[in-house]
Amino acid sequence: MARILGGLTTSHVPAIGGAIAKGLQQQPYWKPFFDGFLPVRAWLDEVKPDVAMVFYNDHGLNFFLDKMPTFAVGAAPEYRNADEGWGLPTLPPFQGAPELSWHLINHLVAREFDITTCQEMLVDHAFALPLKLFWPEGPCPVRTVPVCINTVQFPLPSARRCVALGKAVGEALASWDSDQKVVVIGTGGLSHQLDGERAGFINKPFDLKFMQSLIEEPEWATRFSIPELVEKTGTQGVELLMWLAARAAVPGPVRRVHSNYHIPISNTAAGMMALAAA
Ligand code: DHB
Ligand code: FE
Repeated sequence: MARILGGLTTSHVPAIGGAIAKGLQQQPYWKPFFDGFLPVRAWLDEVKPDVAMVFYNDHGLNFFLDKMPTFAVGAAPEYRNADEGWGLPTLPPFQGAPELSWHLINHLVAREFDITTCQEMLVDHAFALPLKLFWPEGPCPVRTVPVCINTVQFPLPSARRCVALGKAVGEALASWDSDQKVVVIGTGGLSHQLDGERAGFINKPFDLKFMQSLIEEPEWATRFSIPELVEKTGTQGVELLMWLAARAAVPGPVRRVHSNYHIPISNTAAGMMALAAA
């Protein structure tokens, strides 16, 4: 049985890639953001995960509006990073974990999730940058399984459905016949809206309540419909669905290793949490 070490969640703003490429981590604008990751890296050095299960949302790179799966799971031996238009340098390919992917896919379909299976998959900033933030040195040292949730084209899956998906992923990890150590990652959010009348919208009280809820009451956010989540967090803040799914994949109570919340990074309230399985 594989061991679930805990969950990591973070925002995934493209500008982070530019800051890393230019070495701006110590500049006053970026320092409060990058410093948040230092205690988490120390924890990762200690617990040494082998595999990362990564809930993220594609932004029009691998899936476009003509074909938009609600849930998609990668089953490739490696995932190439590409730039969907931000002018970012790309990161080296990420190693897959095909045997875990297929175990997960079989489990999800048996549990009646109608997923799309991807034996080839390009990954955008939402997948690549969080891994670079958690493991900044060299190529990413952990193998990965991407789980993509549509937050780009309506209708979106409900918060309740994303929690159910996360729980099913957690079951699959618990039944994976392996001695590997797994960390579950969720990327996106927190509150932000990139366009329209409310461009620049941020909701700090909601974000902080949401972060706390992942520790104390992990299904708290399922009380909100998707339109309510958009109203409270912005059209892109709804990416918090990834945090919900990642937390749901970690069974039982969790202990906060570290968290950080900083406004703004680009247009986004940047949040980060590291939660160890208790
Ligand atoms: C920004 C945030 C995102 O989540 C994203 O996918 C793209 C851009 C931003 O704040 O600039
Ligand atoms: Fe995004």
